[in-house]
Amino acid sequence: MDTRPGTAGPPMEALLALEMIRVTEAAAVEAARLMGRGDKDEADRAAVEAMRATMDELEIDGSIVIGEGERDEAPMLFIGEAVGKRVIGRKTYPAVDIAVDPLEGTNLVAYGQGNAITVLAASERGGLLNAPDTYLEKLCVGPAAVGKVDIRLSPAENLDAIARSLGRRVADLTVVILDRERHADLIAAVRAAGARIKLIGDGDLSAGISCAVSGTGIHAVMGIGGAPEGVLAAAALRCLGGEIQARLRFRSPEERARGAAMGHGDEERVYRTEDLASGENIVFAATGVTDGDLLHGVRFFGGGVRTHTLQMAYRTKHVRFIDTVHMLDRDRPPSVRL
Ligand code: FBP
Repeated sequence: MDTRPGTAGPPMEALLALEMIRVTEAAAVEAARLMGRGDKDEADRAAVEAMRATMDELEIDGSIVIGEGERDEAPMLFIGEAVGKRVIGRKTYPAVDIAVDPLEGTNLVAYGQGNAITVLAASERGGLLNAPDTYLEKLCVGPAAVGKVDIRLSPAENLDAIARSLGRRVADLTVVILDRERHADLIAAVRAAGARIKLIGDGDLSAGISCAVSGTGIHAVMGIGGAPEGVLAAAALRCLGGEIQARLRFRSPEERARGAAMGHGDEERVYRTEDLASGENIVFAATGVTDGDLLHGVRFFGGGVRTHTLQMAYRTKHVRFIDTVHMLDRDRPPSVRL
């Protein structure tokens, strides 16, 4: 076991760790300004534009391998899009694959509800699943339950395993499930097993990360949600030592054909954390847009803004919670409070 603290990391993680925070922070601030306006596309567009502009300042040859847009026809940072400075003169920057969710929870921002975040994960080329923007059936758990659950088993069996791993009763578990028609049977099964349920309108990525962070009160995420959110959850859970298991769930023959063309057409295949985020170098950043279980939302005050970010890296083994005050107006400096 390598027990060295992650101070001097390999170039990619060291290069990106702090730079990526600027990207998710910038997107969060712009999206948060539009909270409550009832327009999810406007909030998404603001996050995408801020993310793209800040990402293009990074000294990387970046490629988006999984993102949103295709699915909800939002403003997109689309799959295959090149980002970063890439090449300047004769200098070539490191090749980096990127998974993005510029605004996870567009509706949450549009209606001023909790748990919206801006998210980015990066790895060396090939380290994040390059899949179509479709759905995944997911099971996310924290470190205690790693290796003890199986998405092919029933919800009751998995809840029993999670409860045992945590040394508590099933009745003391809270499971997050997206409030969707397609989850009627799942919800009934979890209720019958006796666990508590937090039904959410949106945001299964934030919930997937939360189940690996003690104190959030979330012990598992179950159900079908976006594939990009699944890959990003895998990147986060690798850094946190948690687990995601997933199966592709196509909604149309076209999606299935696109998945098959990318080498991912099998709905029976169980993807594990390391299949979704296989990289040796994984860097992850998420900034709160609205207040949530995991992160504070953006706070605005005269002359400044405050953001709260979770930043992690797999190989350099660090998990940072970063509380940043952005001094936007030198003539009206905000009072900085603890
Ligand atoms: P957006 O931020 O793109 O609106 O997605 C939010 C979300 O709720 C995700 O957290 C989840 O994985 C996905 O949408 C579920 O998709 P659907 O709304 O189609 O059920």
